Amino acid sequence: MSERTDLLQILYISTVSPRETVDLESILAVARRNNRAHDITGLLMFNGKRFLQVLEGPSGAVENTFERIRRDTRHRAQVMLSRRTVGRREFGDWSMAFRDGHAGEVYDLICARTADAHPNLRAELTAFARQI
Ligand SMILES: Cc1cc2nc3c(=O)[nH]c(=O)nc-3n(C[C@H](O)[C@H](O)[C@H](O)COP(=O)(O)O)c2cc1C
Repeated sequence: MSERTDLLQILYISTVSPRETVDLESILAVARRNNRAHDITGLLMFNGKRFLQVLEGPSGAVENTFERIRRDTRHRAQVMLSRRTVGRREFGDWSMAFRDGHAGEVYDLICARTADAHPNLRAELTAFARQI
C-alpha cells in the first residue's frame, strides 16, 4: 500500500505597508531558514508594491507559518487566492526562490518553472511575474 501524505498549498497576495522599506533579502533569509526547518517549500515574488507567495508543506506547518506571516506589519491586506490540498509538491525544489531580475527574466523563469503547477495557480503566478 502506498502511503500518501496530503500537503496543504496556499497562495496569497498582500500589499507592502505604507512607508515600509522592504528588505527582501532579509525576509528571504528568515523564510528560507524557517521553511527548511518546517519542510515548507514555495515561492515569494515582490513587484515593488505587492507580494505574492506560495507555501506548501505539512498542513500544520503551513497554517502556523501563514499565521505568523499574516501578523507581520511589513505588509497588509493579505488575500488568500488559493488554498488546496495537493498530493505532491508543485514547488518542491523551490526554497522561496526569488529572482530580483530584470523584467522578462522573472517572467520567463516563472513560465518555465511552473509547468507542473495547477493551471489556475500558474495563471496567477505568470500574470504577477509579468508586472515585475
Ligand atoms: C511577504 C512576507 C513573506 C514572508 N514569508 C515567510 C516565510 O515563508 N516563512 C517564514 O518563516 N517567515 C516569513 N516571513 C517572515 C515572518 O513574517 C516572520 O517575521 C518570521 O517568520 C519570524 O521568524 P523568527 O521568529 O525566526 O524571527 C515573511 C514576511 C513577509 C513580510
